Amino acid sequence: MRVNHVGEVCAQALYLAQATVTRDPQLRESLLTSAREELDHLAWTRDRLDALGSRPSLLNPLWFAGAFAIGLAAAKVSDKVSLGFVVETERQVSEHLQGHLGSLPEADLPSREVVARMQQDEERHAAQALAAGRRNCLHPRVC
Ligand SMILES: [Fe+2]
Ligand SMILES: [Fe+2]
Repeated sequence: MRVNHVGEVCAQALYLAQATVTRDPQLRESLLTSAREELDHLAWTRDRLDALGSRPSLLNPLWFAGAFAIGLAAAKVSDKVSLGFVVETERQVSEHLQGHLGSLPEADLPSREVVARMQQDEERHAAQALAAGRRNCLHPRVC
């Protein structure tokens, strides 16, 4: 669950960085909406850490800074690259969460519920970014 919490710290940083850079107001709103949902994930994973008697990673400030820098770099290339980065990141997070579901104890229903809900959200984030990338594509043959 600590790894999941780190992932949500990074998700905050990525979405905020990308929303800061884009000049497209519709895309900015969409990125900030996803960031708000990632904030829910952050709270859920923190609650589970507390309930399980664990603690967040002490390196979270570093993870946040690194992810923010990566988000800025991707967004500065173009909105298309930024959205492609979102799609790939969210897909990898979803795969990680699927694997975590496979290893979580069956009896830990609260954790299973959190991970399953987050996985649904991450897949939706990937689908939304893919759709936004297609909408923003001015040259369909190369997008
Ligand atoms: Fe998330
Ligand atoms: Fe997400």
